[in-house]
Amino acid sequence: MKQLPIKNLKELNILDIQYLVGELKTISLKYRCALREIETKFAILNDEYKSVHSHNPIEHMKSRIKTPESILEKLQRKGLPVTAEGAGELTDIAGIRVVCSFLSDVYEIADSIISQNDLTLIRKSDYIKNPKPHGYRSLHLIVSVPVFFSSKVENVPVEIQLRTVSMDTWASLEHKLRYKYNGEMPDDISDMLLSCADITSNLDDKMMSAHDRLFA
Ligand code: GTP
Ligand code: MG
Repeated sequence: MKQLPIKNLKELNILDIQYLVGELKTISLKYRCALREIETKFAILNDEYKSVHSHNPIEHMKSRIKTPESILEKLQRKGLPVTAEGAGELTDIAGIRVVCSFLSDVYEIADSIISQNDLTLIRKSDYIKNPKPHGYRSLHLIVSVPVFFSSKVENVPVEIQLRTVSMDTWASLEHKLRYKYNGEMPDDISDMLLSCADITSNLDDKMMSAHDRLFA
């Protein structure tokens, strides 16, 4: 594989960029396969809960592979080598968002996935117990999943974001607003988002109490 040990995307000419985008499209195979493995694991857990406990903890899932353009932008932003090897340092090329009904579902589903012994937990960031200062809440896991190809096994990182429906509503709208404001949100909008984060947290707690009474 050709090496392009250039740190700044602006230093690359159009042919280098076209070459890199081609390389990144090639390596995306293993990320697509890893996502399929992880999606199946969550679908199996949801099916099991549905048939054994008559409760489906997962409302919906959404997965995505980072586009080559977005990988190049992140490498440049993080000061990593703008090469296919540099892309190997990123742990969020494959990502899945798992939106659950209740808070307890988030933790139960996360624990079930983490305990599967073909997966390795690389990092766990609990932004539910420790929300980000501006209000973001979700449970993030980075896991490594083995993908079996015809002549080799590749351990591929996947970013899993688990959250409740209300956390998802907040994060989706906050993302849209932040994008519109180009990262520079006016103070009153930031304050409004923080108070909405409190409301969604309150909502999750209330729904959890109702859930506990119902299933006690
Ligand atoms: P990145 O370089 O952005 O991947 O950050 P990181 O590696 O420190 O990971 P972090 O756990 O902070 O965030 C990973 C992902 O979580 C982001 O790409 C978003 O999808 C989501 N996320 C994190 N913070 C926020 C936030 O404040 N708002 C929204 N809407 N999403 C967020
Ligand atoms: Mg990310």
